[in-house]
Amino acid sequence: MTGLSDPFNRPINYLRISVTDRCNLRCVYCMPAEGIGLLPQGEILSYEEIVTIARLAAELGINKLRLTGGEPLVRAKLPELVAMLAEIGGIDDISLTTNGVLLKECASELKQAGLKRVNVSLDSLNRDKFERITRYDKLGGVLKGIEAAKVCGLNPVKINMVVMRGINDDEILDFANLTITEGWHVRFIELMPFAADNPPHGHSTGGSVELSPQFMSADEIKGRLISLGELEPSLPITGNGPAKYFRLLQTSGSIGLITPVSQHFCFNCNRLRLTAEGKLRPCLLSDQEIDLRQPLRSGASPEKLKKIITEAIQSKPKQHQLSQGRVSGKRLMSQVGG
Ligand code: 5AD
Ligand code: SF4
Repeated sequence: MTGLSDPFNRPINYLRISVTDRCNLRCVYCMPAEGIGLLPQGEILSYEEIVTIARLAAELGINKLRLTGGEPLVRAKLPELVAMLAEIGGIDDISLTTNGVLLKECASELKQAGLKRVNVSLDSLNRDKFERITRYDKLGGVLKGIEAAKVCGLNPVKINMVVMRGINDDEILDFANLTITEGWHVRFIELMPFAADNPPHGHSTGGSVELSPQFMSADEIKGRLISLGELEPSLPITGNGPAKYFRLLQTSGSIGLITPVSQHFCFNCNRLRLTAEGKLRPCLLSDQEIDLRQPLRSGASPEKLKKIITEAIQSKPKQHQLSQGRVSGKRLMSQVGG
């Protein structure tokens, strides 16, 4: 294994695999209420195809996989995919990002299949507000899913909260308190201008976008935490992702801040994305995509496919253009997987 680097000397060892564009929620910042035009079944990569790509990526130096969606757990038999991926030599971490609605039913099966840990997206602990944000009354199920994941050892369970001014910013302290009382690992995420309710994405101002009025910077979020006591910087609880971590004194949980907007972390970016229909996306926030499905289905050799993966990495942009008001125009977050 040689290890992959992009032209900016960033080691690339992390592949995020979107297994479906479908979702059982309709979060306001992610999907319109009526949903989106879904990909026909035949356009979605089969599990065998995903495994073929993951195996080639592992041969090139990828050692971490994350399954995303849409909502990955709406795809049938996801534990079978996890088990197939877990057999690939060189993959030492498989994780999942989920909205948690279906987690209770399959947490233990996923763990047995080889899943290491989960991130659960949860933006409110208040039932009505949860429903306003996601358009479904499913908070109870998500909380049960989080508990089930902990009990069966999918640890650390990280909770991702997208902070929106005037919508859920009054719950920042409630989430932070759970790092004390329940040992939760909570990550506050800055809202990125992908907004499904603000076509095309965010407020369009002739080709560029403005941040949503609901945007709150990580500095402001951190300011809200002062009343809970001193925050001491801490090491990442796993890996080397984009969050900056803190702990409230004497707690087992942690608080992370993810700042895609106020302070980009592109210089540390180690990731590549695969969409549900088999396109490699070198950057979450750029529209550039490289198709792997067509060559895969027309019988391209492993060497040829590896060359395409390597070239995709070579085309990774240095950083995103959010500060210049440019975002992805083609896809909603549900079609990229966060
Ligand atoms: N800004 C920030 N985070 C987002 N997510 C989805 N859309 C946005 C957005 N516009 C998050 C979800 C989930 C992950 C997949 O991406 O909340 O945690
Ligand atoms: Fe579904 Fe996640 Fe998008 Fe919400 S943010 S609609 S849970 S994919």
